[in-house]
Amino acid sequence: MSPATLTDMATAVLQTADAHEKAALSRQSAALWFAARRGETPEIPIGTASPPLDPARPGKPALLDPREVPRRRPGSPEGREALLHAVAHIELNAVDLHWDIIARFGGHVPFPMGFFDDWVKSADEESKHFQLVTACLEATGSFYGDLPAHAGMWRAAADTAGDIMGRLAVVPMVLEARGLDVTPGMIEVFRKAGDPAAVQAVEALEVIYAEEVHHVAYGSKWFHFLCGRHDTDPKDAFHRLVRTYFHGPLKPPFNAEKRAEAGLPPDFYWPLSESGSVG
Ligand SMILES: [Fe+2]
Ligand SMILES: [Fe+2]
Repeated sequence: MSPATLTDMATAVLQTADAHEKAALSRQSAALWFAARRGETPEIPIGTASPPLDPARPGKPALLDPREVPRRRPGSPEGREALLHAVAHIELNAVDLHWDIIARFGGHVPFPMGFFDDWVKSADEESKHFQLVTACLEATGSFYGDLPAHAGMWRAAADTAGDIMGRLAVVPMVLEARGLDVTPGMIEVFRKAGDPAAVQAVEALEVIYAEEVHHVAYGSKWFHFLCGRHDTDPKDAFHRLVRTYFHGPLKPPFNAEKRAEAGLPPDFYWPLSESGSVG
């Protein structure tokens, strides 16, 4: 593969329908990018691209309205399988989200090279997360596509396709930050189960938990960068953009420690919660 530009590479990942092929191409593209950045191979220009509004996805899983996705008893083996399947679906979506930021905004909004390094690294990690979680599913005789999954996960991307600051506010700083809030509880579910497959899941989720902090931090860093460029107050801009593009209040409890580590102070997220004030 000899991609002409980074935005072409990003678009190729978005246009790959098979989930495992998408993850593999994503990792291969990241390796090519970083080899070029280290000077081992010729420089890869950013270029410009016209990515599809919706990424290509596999025929399975069936995508259902969240209210129609069957609920399974948490703590049962079926419940744990459903949880892993839901995480695999989120990770695959995240692979596309990270390459979409590059493909959609890369050539159009000027950024220092560090912006591209951060999102390529995140995209690579999301692909690894997908591979880790699908390996856990496969260890229990299941696979990604075996269960239905939530439709509408791409909505945040579609709603912010024309607004890079809206994208950064909603995707890394709201949705991925929510991952920091809920992942410790998921790790506990598998820790309690204690069988070998659950131990593998704990290990996978611990990798995800550690790396997701950086994804939120990259979101916060580049959001603040753009606020500085436009001489805009970051907190006010964040509140305005989340109210515009995110549907509904943010749900406590918040993981204040990991959010702080990722550059998200309480006065960013608490005013957007149901209570509307810093708790
Ligand atoms: Fe992830
Ligand atoms: Fe992430």
